[in-house]
Amino acid sequence: MSAAVTDSASLAPTTDIASLRGDFPALQQRVHGHPLTYLDSAASSQCPQAVIDAIGTQQGLNHANVHRGVHQLSERATLAYESARERVRDYINAASEREIIFTRGTTESINLVARSFGGSRLSAGDEVLITWMEHHSNIVPWQMICERTGAKLVPVPITDAGELDRAAFDRLLTDRTKIVAFVHVSNALGTVNPARELIGKAHAAGAVVVVDGAQAMPHKRVDVRDLDCDFYAFSGHKMFGPTGIGVLYGKENLLEEMPPWQGGGEMILTVSFDGTTWNHLPGKFEAGTPNITAAVGLGAAVDYLARIDFAALEAHEAALLEHATERLGEIDGARIVGTAADKASVLSFVIDGIHAHDVGTIVDAAGVAVRTGHHCAMPVMDRFGVAATARASFALYNNHDDIDRLILGLGQAVELFA
Ligand code: ALA
Repeated sequence: MSAAVTDSASLAPTTDIASLRGDFPALQQRVHGHPLTYLDSAASSQCPQAVIDAIGTQQGLNHANVHRGVHQLSERATLAYESARERVRDYINAASEREIIFTRGTTESINLVARSFGGSRLSAGDEVLITWMEHHSNIVPWQMICERTGAKLVPVPITDAGELDRAAFDRLLTDRTKIVAFVHVSNALGTVNPARELIGKAHAAGAVVVVDGAQAMPHKRVDVRDLDCDFYAFSGHKMFGPTGIGVLYGKENLLEEMPPWQGGGEMILTVSFDGTTWNHLPGKFEAGTPNITAAVGLGAAVDYLARIDFAALEAHEAALLEHATERLGEIDGARIVGTAADKASVLSFVIDGIHAHDVGTIVDAAGVAVRTGHHCAMPVMDRFGVAATARASFALYNNHDDIDRLILGLGQAVELFA
């Protein structure tokens, strides 16, 4: 169990964000002889001990299949799995556990909406509005369903700062727009989109809204009813949980009307060769044996996050971003890609004359982990005229020393290539 988040006698959320670092065993190790400086949380965040323990207990003592046995272990597994769903529901303030579908991750969640909702609602003449700052997982599923249905995919341009072009959004949102899908926080730029405003406008135009929340969940306290989004997709492994588990939140009336997208066990009520009837929500969308242990791990991650004061967390991360932005200015030829006014703690940059992969390799030798490449957002790279960037992404467990080590490593890279 986390020391930092549970020691308090009261249940008041912790405001001492710096103390949380000690909860993450991966961060206590050395890499290439240096203390690990993990700045790749936008790709995948580390797990606190509480999550690792929950996974160990579930897999070690309570493992059995869910919803399928009357024996003790199956009952325990079912209870743990459904309790994880309830904790996720509570955490994002969904109205009902029927609105929480467990998936493999954000990508699968968006594919589910595109295939099931898009596949049954779209036809030629309809449009799906996305943005130029989307991750491939919020582009390709829509391309595929548009191709199948004859609908048109319309990307809204972004500005030089990496913000959504709001005038273009207003212009491109028309009565032909049936679905608006956008990222809450951009993985490649850090841009935070004005989700409530965009959702309100999309609804006024009669469109249904899908939000890719993968990068928002580790930084923001998301309330799906306050946002009023129709669908919200996110992944466990970006919010201090394990890989292989994610969530699709959907409004119950929409999920009720949608056809299942995968067939198999669990998603049925009855099966005969004359026909099959579908299970109630959420089972209708959870065919086959789910990733039970990962769901339990996600439940533990949600418990962990629920005990953190998010105003303190946002202030901590804003200070990290400010420090990193300022210190990057000391690096000759460095340029930030993505300078939105409202930005999460993601710093994408290029350095003149050094390929991003070389930057990543050199700082890795100093124990600093950053991601390099197109970040699964090729249109973003095209928009800024770069093939790749290096990206340092900060999470609740990072501190100013991490940034100073990154800058030291970048200085070495510049010297080497000078
Ligand atoms: N979407 C993940 C990233 O941004 C993989 O790195």
